[in-house]
Amino acid sequence: MIDFNNLKPLHSLLAAELEAAAQRVLKSGWYILGPEVEAFETAFAAYHGVKYAVGVASGTDAIELALRAAGIGPGDEVITVAHTAVATVCAVERTGARPVLVDIDPDTYTMSPAAAEAAITPRTKALLPVHLYGHPADTRALSALAERHHLLLVEDCAQAHGALDHGRRVGTIGHLGAFSFYPTKNLGAYGDGGAVITNDSQLAARLRSLRNYGQVTRYEHAERGINSRLDEMQAAILAVKLAHLDEHNAARRELAALYGQHLARVTLPVERADAYHVYHLYVVRHTLRDEIREALKARGVGTLIHYPIPVHLQAAYLDLGCAPGSLPVTERVAREVLSLPLYVGLTAQDILTVAQALLQSAVAVEQR
Ligand SMILES: Cc1ncc(COP(=O)(O)O)c(C=O)c1O
Repeated sequence: MIDFNNLKPLHSLLAAELEAAAQRVLKSGWYILGPEVEAFETAFAAYHGVKYAVGVASGTDAIELALRAAGIGPGDEVITVAHTAVATVCAVERTGARPVLVDIDPDTYTMSPAAAEAAITPRTKALLPVHLYGHPADTRALSALAERHHLLLVEDCAQAHGALDHGRRVGTIGHLGAFSFYPTKNLGAYGDGGAVITNDSQLAARLRSLRNYGQVTRYEHAERGINSRLDEMQAAILAVKLAHLDEHNAARRELAALYGQHLARVTLPVERADAYHVYHLYVVRHTLRDEIREALKARGVGTLIHYPIPVHLQAAYLDLGCAPGSLPVTERVAREVLSLPLYVGLTAQDILTVAQALLQSAVAVEQR
């Protein structure tokens, strides 16, 4: 039996450090926005080579607050993708802006720059690409597009901590980078958490205020904010795990390379030249995806689908004005993608077992 995911091996690897950090917080008497958060923000900014990191309560909040800090709100349009976690679109709507969903590149599953360009209107204020599955979106083309049209570029980095595009860390290419620290992410907390990074001091100051009810100095509120604070426990845990992020991403890449050597009969993930994929998810494709998934389950291999229903076809979002059939690559990909087990602690033998089970499953369903 190989589960789709298992966070216990990673905890065991770092148990001594994590438990010492947790004890320190428990005994400190200070639990929200304190020295642990400041230390993590400093380390997270340094890891990215940017001036500021602002810890918030989730990845969804990170996107919302990044957009709000830059002045995006009602009447504005934000171009993003439908092939993503629904949180990306949810965050845009919480600012009051309208999400405009565009199609993706068929190889990397990230925002198509041509589709984004075609969707620009006089109301467009921002591009919000998602570095999905750990692979960077085409940031060169998207930055150029944003510059030409004077748009804000916010990167959704929830699935791509440490990924690189042309040698630049994702999150540092646009004006703001938004991260989630949901426990399964490449940098995961032991609860919810998120952060926004930027080099702009005014944006950073506004983010700090917005995450704390719009407070500028104690009990003085310049604007309406929300409660979206990172807590000390999560920050202490994240600081421990951040020091191991590159090593864990390298381990993910080794497992992905092993899949690449052993898998057959499915379309493998692509790593664009000059990109550094951090394999948050290892996603293959097959036209008989659902049947293969069932066959894999019968062989004891857990899989998931990221994502089976694109946002524009979700019951909650049918009023976005994006009709079925309007995003053909997204819709085809949603029918064919399958995420295989890949996490720190999975062994080479596990990868071979999954690859073999997948091959047997594919042969069996193709012959039906
Ligand atoms: C691409 C993407 N964006 C945003 C989010 C939202 O993050 P969170 O769950 O921390 O709010 C997630 C995580 O679920 C995600 O995968």
